[in-house]
Amino acid sequence: MTGAGRVGVIVVAAGSGSRLGASVPKAFVPLAGVPLLGHALRGVLSCTTASEVVVVAPAAHRGDAEVLAEGVCRELGSSVPVTVVVGGAERGDSVAAGLAVLGEAVEIVLVHDAARCLTPVAVFDRVVAAVAGGSAAVVPGTAVVDTIKQVDAGGFVVGTPDRSALRAVQTPQGFRREVLERAHAVSSDATDDAGLVERLGERVLVVEGDPRALKVTTPADLETATRLLAETL
Ligand code: C5P
Repeated sequence: MTGAGRVGVIVVAAGSGSRLGASVPKAFVPLAGVPLLGHALRGVLSCTTASEVVVVAPAAHRGDAEVLAEGVCRELGSSVPVTVVVGGAERGDSVAAGLAVLGEAVEIVLVHDAARCLTPVAVFDRVVAAVAGGSAAVVPGTAVVDTIKQVDAGGFVVGTPDRSALRAVQTPQGFRREVLERAHAVSSDATDDAGLVERLGERVLVVEGDPRALKVTTPADLETATRLLAETL
């Protein structure tokens, strides 16, 4: 335990993953024979600070998610309770569905993309430690290697932000529960949860992320993840 309250982890896995071009939703696409969600749950349940886990799954795959979670708990000898709920149309709706069923005792919430299925436990630990240490909102991030251009609707460049001040952010993103709930009460419409919290005027701390926390989005990402997994075995 962290000494700063129980930690609930919401694993969002309800996206369709159309950019992957698979016949099943992305979280159920196999990586070395195990669905991405199975790998993600191995990471989450290997994290000693997690006190409960909520998996947010597509309606048609709720049962599959339950079977997967039972299997990973058995494999790891974990007794951490895992609840499976059905997600919504957008990522934010799925996070809100997970938040709605978290146990009352949870004080720190991590929101994690199942698609970032190889995120090392050390990243979870860094995020939890920073929230337990007093930060209201914490995201893992890595330095940006490309120069990023901002463009207008016509595709013309309107700005070049200073690269040294940019970070590519990942999950798990960690929050004091009260802050995340306040953010979602206003709106769930953002590509990440920190974005909602920023709108409240809360400060969001970036801690070191990890290249292995890549989000599997395209077939090329799946190949990269396959290689990364082979390297860690
Ligand atoms: O679509 P994207 O890759 O940004 O999704 C990030 C994560 O959010 C994925 O793990 C996906 O399963 C999840 N998601 C969700 N519900 C949605 C859309 C995405 O749980 N409606």
